[in-house]
Amino acid sequence: MVLDLVTYPDPRLKQTSAPIEEMTDELRTLAADMKETMVAKRGVGLAAPQVGRFVRMLVVSLSETSDSEIPPQEYVLVNPVLTLGGEEKCSKAEGCLSVPMNFRADVMRKDLVTLDALDLEGRPIHMDFHGYPAFVLQHECDHLDGVLFLDRISRIRRTLYDGRLKKWLARKDGA
Ligand code: CO
Repeated sequence: MVLDLVTYPDPRLKQTSAPIEEMTDELRTLAADMKETMVAKRGVGLAAPQVGRFVRMLVVSLSETSDSEIPPQEYVLVNPVLTLGGEEKCSKAEGCLSVPMNFRADVMRKDLVTLDALDLEGRPIHMDFHGYPAFVLQHECDHLDGVLFLDRISRIRRTLYDGRLKKWLARKDGA
């Protein structure tokens, strides 16, 4: 089932999500629905709080290598933890399914991450990523701590976006 997205400026997106203590059928259904939603909305990642569930779970479509011949793989990550390394690099034109108007901005993020998480069966996942998939993982894990990429851009860009969004939402509500 494709789920409704929680969108900015909904204050729920600022909430910190709780660790998952036990895998339940309900959470497995949520994971399947989140995957379906990510694909339907053409996203590369989706975190549970974006569908109004405040648990530390996300779905991502990741390439293990920068080799574009190898198609990206979908992962469900439970209680993901990132260890950041490498240099600060610019994630080019980052966007988010929860940020309206298809707003995009560059964000400075670490170039290397080591991911530790569990899969849906509770098996440990331990993988390294660099470049684009590392940026995607940082973006999605931020959602679990109530952080949006908007919180990581300059104040002036943020203010400009907030102004445009306010007008856009007013027009939408008035229509
Ligand atoms: Co996002």
